[in-house]
Amino acid sequence: MTKLMGQNMMRKDGAAHQTERKAIFPTLSPKTVQTVWEAQFKAATQKILDGLATRRTADLVKDFAMPVSGDALKAITGLTQMTSQEMDSVSQGMIDGCANYAGDPEVEARCYDCTASIDAHISNHISGGLKDDDMSLIAVQQRAGLSDAQLRANVKLAISGGQNEPRDAIAGILWAILERPKLQEALREGVVSYLQVFEEFTRWISPIGMSPRRIAKPYHYNGVDFAIDTRIFLMFSSANHDEKYFDDPNQFDPWRDTSKSIPFGAGPHFCAGAWAARSLIVNVALPMILDAFPNMTLNGSVEFSGWAFRGPVEVPVTW
Ligand code: HEM
Repeated sequence: MTKLMGQNMMRKDGAAHQTERKAIFPTLSPKTVQTVWEAQFKAATQKILDGLATRRTADLVKDFAMPVSGDALKAITGLTQMTSQEMDSVSQGMIDGCANYAGDPEVEARCYDCTASIDAHISNHISGGLKDDDMSLIAVQQRAGLSDAQLRANVKLAISGGQNEPRDAIAGILWAILERPKLQEALREGVVSYLQVFEEFTRWISPIGMSPRRIAKPYHYNGVDFAIDTRIFLMFSSANHDEKYFDDPNQFDPWRDTSKSIPFGAGPHFCAGAWAARSLIVNVALPMILDAFPNMTLNGSVEFSGWAFRGPVEVPVTW
């Protein structure tokens, strides 16, 4: 990640991490999400729904969740000249590059293409002049005095980590709801909330299953000694299925207590985009599409794929 995308805040610790985390907070704070982004999320989602209104079928991954997620990220990053398809594609290119443990030169070259395209868009946004009320990641980092390298690395981090997860959560939750007519009825009657469904779904099928770590100091856990510099995977999805905290963890149960689940991680690197993601998914994407197409039904089988990033490949629907 550091080699291909530059060293972003997720690959820093202590004071170096805190400085950058503090710098991006004005973009992703609950207040900015509520007062700046949520209205933009709604307007962009309405346009996507208007485009679907003339149709009778769709794939909720490609035709809804992907552009909803891409449009939100365009606003948050400041890269509004990009298309949502381009946002999805550069995000995937960087994810593939970071997971390229075998060192395939083609994957690496494609990743560099994606980062070059993002860099060109960033330069374009900056050269247009940043307005005082611009709350994008680009603008707030520049105002906070972060270097050009820091600014660019953190925008790439937000793109590699902020596109797939909302996309996969939106499409996956819609599948889970459409499979359960009683749940849909309960949502309509307000007996269960979209927030409860979101929290339980992201526990059950975590959009990010794991994140790599390097052991920084000798550590002993549960009979295992970890030596300095050992590389490990921290398994969010396993924690979210821990029988000690969740009865029958493989069951999807929106009424359960999910307070012990960690789909957004935990500790200093807890997802900086968690409030934006909740607003986009819970307040905008789910209620808006289910209100627009109340008789929507599944139109084929749904398969999930991925381990580090997990989501439905396709969610075919008709209405
Ligand atoms: C459902 C949606 C999302 C999920 C499940 C999710 C999950 C996560 C997780 C598990 C981490 C921690 C990774 C680690 O500890 O190694 C993380 C970090 C992060 N996420 Fe998210 N994320 C989501 C949406 C977003 C969005 C929309 C953005 C940006 C707009 C974003 C930006 C970030 C950033 C910047 C970090 C790094 C924070 C730091 O290092 O301090 N995420 N996310």
